[in-house]
Amino acid sequence: MNALKKLFPRRLLEGLRYIRHGRLTWDRTLPSSVVSAAMTTKEEQALFTKSVKDVAGLKGEIIDLGCWLGSTTISLASGLRELNDPGKVYAFDRFIWEPWMDLYSSEHWCEYLPGELFLPETRRRMGDLKPWVVLVTADLTTYHWEGGAVRLVLVDAMKSWRLTTAIGREFYGALVKDALVLHQDYLSYNHPWLSVLQYRLRDYMRYETCVSHGATASFRLSKEIPSDVLLKAIDFSQLTDDEAERSWLWSLEVIGERARGTMACSKIMYYLGKGEIERSKVLLRESEKLQQIEPHNLTTVRQDIAKAEAGDHSWAEMNADRMFSHGTDAVGRNAA
Ligand SMILES: C[S@@+](CC[C@H](N)C(=O)[O-])C[C@H]1O[C@@H](n2cnc3c(N)ncnc32)[C@H](O)[C@@H]1O
Repeated sequence: MNALKKLFPRRLLEGLRYIRHGRLTWDRTLPSSVVSAAMTTKEEQALFTKSVKDVAGLKGEIIDLGCWLGSTTISLASGLRELNDPGKVYAFDRFIWEPWMDLYSSEHWCEYLPGELFLPETRRRMGDLKPWVVLVTADLTTYHWEGGAVRLVLVDAMKSWRLTTAIGREFYGALVKDALVLHQDYLSYNHPWLSVLQYRLRDYMRYETCVSHGATASFRLSKEIPSDVLLKAIDFSQLTDDEAERSWLWSLEVIGERARGTMACSKIMYYLGKGEIERSKVLLRESEKLQQIEPHNLTTVRQDIAKAEAGDHSWAEMNADRMFSHGTDAVGRNAA
């Protein structure tokens, strides 16, 4: 496209685009080239499509939590289409643009300011997969699922202790035996609560696989989770450091070396989230010596500690939700 821009005047290119797409696009990236806007890797997308096929024989819905511009939804819906399955992917998001989203999409059809609704853009991106998709605008901290059994849930919205409690309460109880839970953030550097939840439910879900590129790990339900067990598992108000540390060791044990760096980060970020800056610095130094953490994560963790130490107001505001003081009991009340 850059070569074309050099050869032809801009207005001529716009004219050609108008003929092809039936509308003026000015200098914006064209729909065909933005369909891939995603926070997931190709390997993750292939795993999502394959996972839909893995649960083909089960009854229940397919859920995508935190679909953003829909790359996860497209991967899941493609699985249904390939199977000729008339089922739907229920894709949830607030669909409200946040400043950090700009970092992940230099190219999009419309330009959004923080607070603006981007639902129509996600819908447009579904293209001919629309018959397999239901986009649901919801705040998952308060949403109540009444849609019955679930055979697959892709989780990309457990961004805090509170969201973990709320999503666990609404969707984990609906999972049928052999259902899949795909955690898109499991191997990311700052989601310490995911291991805690999966560790607490280890008698009901077993680790299945993870990607080499990306952060997804998947778990399969070996038996349905009784409601009293679930309520206990999503109550973080009584979480001790000892139990949290056991959960990261457990993740390392079941996933293996691939999880070493991110579990070391989880530990650091957990203590940082509790406001224990000195402890997180000591842990960071230990991990540096052992060269446990991948370079890109190391940079981010160092920056986060430095910002917390400097009392950076905007950092604190952005991360307020991640702090452990927001750890919640089973009904989502703040523990602090
Ligand atoms: C990391 S992005 C998801 C990226 C997307 N799954 C992909 O792979 O391209 C996380 C999404 O979670 C959504 N989200 C965060 N908190 C939410 C909440 N309380 N309720 C609903 N959606 C929420 C955000 O709007 C955002 O689109």
